[in-house]
Amino acid sequence: MRIVRTIDELRGALEPRRREGARIGLVPTMGYFHEGHLSLMRRAREASDVVVVSLFVNPTQFNDPADLEAYPRDETRDAAMAQSAGVDLLFAPGASEMYRHDATTSVVVGGVSERLEGESRGPGHFRGVATVVAKLLNIVQPGIAYFGQKDAQQALVIRRMVRDLDFPVRIEICPTLREPDGLAMSSRNVRLSATARAQALALKHGLDAAAAAIARGERDASKVEQRGREEMKMFRVEPEYFAVVSAEALVPLRTLSGEVLLAVAAKVGGVRLIDNQLVDVP
Ligand code: PAJ
Repeated sequence: MRIVRTIDELRGALEPRRREGARIGLVPTMGYFHEGHLSLMRRAREASDVVVVSLFVNPTQFNDPADLEAYPRDETRDAAMAQSAGVDLLFAPGASEMYRHDATTSVVVGGVSERLEGESRGPGHFRGVATVVAKLLNIVQPGIAYFGQKDAQQALVIRRMVRDLDFPVRIEICPTLREPDGLAMSSRNVRLSATARAQALALKHGLDAAAAAIARGERDASKVEQRGREEMKMFRVEPEYFAVVSAEALVPLRTLSGEVLLAVAAKVGGVRLIDNQLVDVP
């Protein structure tokens, strides 16, 4: 595995492979890898000849400077893990390589980016995500790029951007990997104290309780949401949002039918966590 720091170097490494027809797979990340990240890399390894992983803690998508500051980083550990997953190129640029000081262009995805995380974190968050992912797709020009269902709304925003702007790439969404007790894996989990780690189960338990209510026949969205929030109260966690929305457009529903997404965000012991679950309502 080779670590590259500049766009030129990365393009130089990819060009001969592209000319010989190699299939290039890209996994965009912000590092501090866990099994969720590795599952995307392994998936890319199966389907591609060249696997590129980007490691860039993208400042433009953080609405809270303290959150950016506290974001865990360990490139040495990440490089070893990426290598073990069969990654060929680890693209780890500095902020000045990714953003010129006088850059003025960004990508705004309407609609699907405006709710849930868009409301909670503000419009800058998905603008930052879409812009950096657009740049990474242009830099690497992969055939397939891999994202996790863990960030369900992010995946939809990227899919919409790729569709609306005709990026020649296939977006593959991979399942959420969880700890044995159900907590969705996240780079942020290392920041949880022992107490907060126990409370963090509120998200998964809230989703499960809401899904169970649907399975019992509840079709009133507000009742399903209420059931999720109640369950979270047992862990003394108040969600930023607990929403039942349509799985594609993320619009709020009154009566549930078809594919719905249960989505939750909560700050637990000062750490912001998100989780979600897709439910097919018969
Ligand atoms: P990051 O949080 O590092 O996540 C990188 C990728 O791993 C994302 O596609 C995310 O959905 C996926 N992922 C995270 N946790 C997962 C889990 N438990 N199971 C499966 N996949 C998981 O998401 C970002 O970085 C950034 O926003 C990025 C897309 C790189 C743009 O900066």
